[in-house]
Formats: sequence, C-alpha cells, structure tokens
Amino acid sequence: MSLSIVILAAGKGSRMKSAIPKIMHKLAGKTLLDHVIGTAQALSPSSMVVVCGNGADQVLPLLEEKNITSVMQHEQLGTGHAVMQAEDAFADADQILVLYGDVPLTQQSTLNELVNCGDENSLRILTTELDDPTGYGRIVRNDVGNVICITEQKDADEATLAIKEVNSGIMVLPAKWLSQSLNKLSNNNAQGEYYLTDMVSLAVKDGLEINTVCCDDNAEVAGVNTRQQLAVLERHYQQLQANELMAKGVTLADPARLDIRGTLTTGTDITLDVNVIIEGNVILADNVEIGANCIIKDSTIGEGTIILANSMIDFSQVGENVTIGPFARLRPGTKLSDNAKIGNFVETKNANIGEGSKVNHLSYIGDTDMGNNVNIGAGTITCNYDGANKHRTTIGNNVFIGSDSQLVAPITIANGATIGAGTTLRKDAAEQALTLTKSVQRTIVGWKRPNKIKK
Ligand code: UD1
Ligand code: CA
Repeated sequence: MSLSIVILAAGKGSRMKSAIPKIMHKLAGKTLLDHVIGTAQALSPSSMVVVCGNGADQVLPLLEEKNITSVMQHEQLGTGHAVMQAEDAFADADQILVLYGDVPLTQQSTLNELVNCGDENSLRILTTELDDPTGYGRIVRNDVGNVICITEQKDADEATLAIKEVNSGIMVLPAKWLSQSLNKLSNNNAQGEYYLTDMVSLAVKDGLEINTVCCDDNAEVAGVNTRQQLAVLERHYQQLQANELMAKGVTLADPARLDIRGTLTTGTDITLDVNVIIEGNVILADNVEIGANCIIKDSTIGEGTIILANSMIDFSQVGENVTIGPFARLRPGTKLSDNAKIGNFVETKNANIGEGSKVNHLSYIGDTDMGNNVNIGAGTITCNYDGANKHRTTIGNNVFIGSDSQLVAPITIANGATIGAGTTLRKDAAEQALTLTKSVQRTIVGWKRPNKIKK
C-alpha cells in the first residue's frame, strides 16, 4: 500500500517578525522544514511533495538541492487549498499523509502508529490534549465518542471552545477519496479559507471511518508560530537528546547546558562540562572529557582525549590520549596523532601533527606536516601565505623549534633539527644540527643539544 506525503509549507509565519520564511528558521541547527522532511523520508514514502508559497525564493533552491518535488501555492487560501495544489502527487498513491512544515518534532513512530491506526479507507487524525487549546481546531465527537468534525477556533461556539482535544493538523487520508472530494470544500467560514479540516465532516457524510491517535507528548505536535515557541521546542529537543546521552553512559555536568546541533556518537564514560556545543557529525570515543564552553564540529575525538575549556574544534581528527586547550582552536584539516598536545592560544589548520608532538603555547601551525615527538616553542608561526599562495611546512621527527620563531614556507626542517629561539627560518634546516639566524644564518654541524641535568 503506497503512501504519499504532502508537506504544507506555504504559510507566511508573520508572527515570527522575520524576513526569513518561518519554516526556514532553525531548530538544533536544522531548518524546521528539514526536520519534517527528515521524518517524512524515514517513512519511505512512494512520493513526497512540499507545497511552497511565501519565501519560495529561499525554499525552492534547497528543495532542488535535495531533489525534493515542490508545488507552488501562489495565494494562501487555506490548508485545504494547499493540499489541492499537490493533487498530482495523489495519482499513484493509496494514502496521503499531510504534514506541516512548521511542526518539527513529530516522531517517526507516532506517524507509523497513525498510518496503522485504521484501515486504508479510513481518515486518521493525530490529536493531542491541551490544557490551553486556544488557537487550535477542536476535535468534536458525538455521544458515543466518534469524531464528527473539526471546528476551528474562530468558527467555534462556547461549548466547542471548551474541548481540550485538538487537531495537530497531521492526517492520513485515502488518496482516491481525497482527490474526488477536495473540490467539495468551501471557504464559507470565519477566515474565508478552504480548510483541510472540513474533510472530516465530508468523510463522515461519505461513511468513512474516522480514527485518531492521541499523542501524549504535546511537543511532538506543537507548531512554531513565534520565536518564543521556537525557543521552547529547542529546549525540549535538547533535553531529549541529553536524556538519550545519559542513558548511553555519558556524564553531563548540566543536561540543560548542552546543545547538540547534529549527530553525536558516543562511547562510554564520557564527561561533558557545561555549555558544550556539538555541531554536524561528531564522534567521541570512550573516556573523552570535554571542558566548559567547547564547540566541536564535524570531528572525531579518540579514546581518553581531554579537551580543556574554551576550545574550538572544526573538521578535525584527534587521536587517543591527546590534550587540547584550554583556549585552543583546531581549524579544518587538523589531524592530531596519539599523545599529541595542543596548548593554550594555539591555532592549527590543515596540519598533521605526529605522535607525542607538542605545540603548547601561542602558536599558529598551518599547512604543516609534523613528525613525531616534535616540540614547538611558544610563539612559533608557520608563515604559510606569501600574499598570493599557500605553502607547506614539513617538520621531521624529534625536531625542536625555539620560541618566537617564524618558519617561512615552503620549507623543510629535517629530523632531529634544532632551531634557535627567535629564528626567522627562510631556508631548509639540516638534520641533527642547530640552525640560527639571529645575525647571519649559520649551521653548526655536530652541535649537541644540552643534556638534561638531573637534580
Ligand atoms: C491548522 C488547522 C487546525 C490545527 C492547527 C494545528 C486548518 C484549517 N486548521 O490551523 O485545526 O489545530 O493547524 O497547528 O487546517 N499552509 C499552507 N497554505 C495555506 C495555509 C496554510 O501551506 O494556504 C500551511 C502553513 O504553512 C502551515 C500549515 O499549513 O505549515 C498550517 O497553517 P496555519 O495557518 O498555521 O493553520 P492554523 O490556523 O494554525
Ligand atoms: Ca499554525
């Protein structure tokens, strides 16, 4: 039995007070419409169409990018009228599921339950009970509890307004019956609109069975009309994600101060301090510790690694038992091998840092390949940009770079080389030698590093 999904997304959302169409506002880093599309796709429908109108210039390019069919509703004459615009989508389908682009948190399981709550010839409505049902369409039932119609707030009398069971707007309708009956809708109501909700009384008249699923979690059917409502749903969603993480064995210093805007995959015994923000796809292995105020985006962090407070990590790969921060910034293309250490006020970009290598203070390491057990002194800068092009810096194993040095790329520093403090290195440095450029650059072959004096 084929299911086709129609997503209504043509409304303006004037209460958002925004130049951006309502459905393009973001919840957990993803547009409201993307949330709905994601849930819809998870149901594997035979077809799917988004009804666009207001702000279509901003919505259509994104739908095209995702290869999602859209239709235009040039004038917003109501939810029923919106569904009429999508009629072509019904041609081959048995059932139509109507979703709203501004109701982002409906669970796939709830929609499955709705689709299966009656046979294919019935009309199925997702409802919920609200203490304050103001603004919603009310589910009107007869003496024996059968649904007879939905009455909109503006068309309701006092007794109807007292009903607390409301229409979520989400419905499943038999496709053939729907396409035969849509033209029976009239706009003879308080708002002068073609209401999709009037399909219910038409269905009753035609003898169709009406089934309902009443959703316990109001947030699943809550629509976003204002920025306040958006903020409430954002917090609700973040709380759900926090609960899920804790259930998987992650310690959160405060579940109310974590934001996941994407997908977080976790091992066990991970600790997240307050105000951690996760964006995109992030993987944290076992025993990772993340300090306060860290932002981690599209990165993988290896087992036992510690990220200290106020660090930012973007599109980077971090090995095991690495220490990062506080106040470190790993920019895209950073790869840290096991046991490496990136300290405070260090910025890295497109850099491979070998095992056990340390960049502890105040440095910029960009476009660099660094070997193992390297020590980069405080204030070292890779000068990767000549004003027109970027060049790479290659640093061998066991290299020691003195503080406040500039490495002018392209340049290679061979294994075991030592660069004196304050060096502006413009030529390659030889292996196992001390290179200085303080006065005239000279190379001392056979120079030996001082031995550590044992106390
Ligand atoms: C609708 C329902 C109401 C339900 C409520 C739940 C109707 C008549 N009423 O009312 O019973 O309780 O949702 O939130 O259906 N849209 C279009 N084109 C239009 C009009 C609307 O695409 O011409 C889209 C909007 O973008 C939105 C959705 O349909 O995504 C709902 O429209 P909205 O105007 O918010 O309906 P409500 O008055 O809230
Ligand atoms: Ca609404």
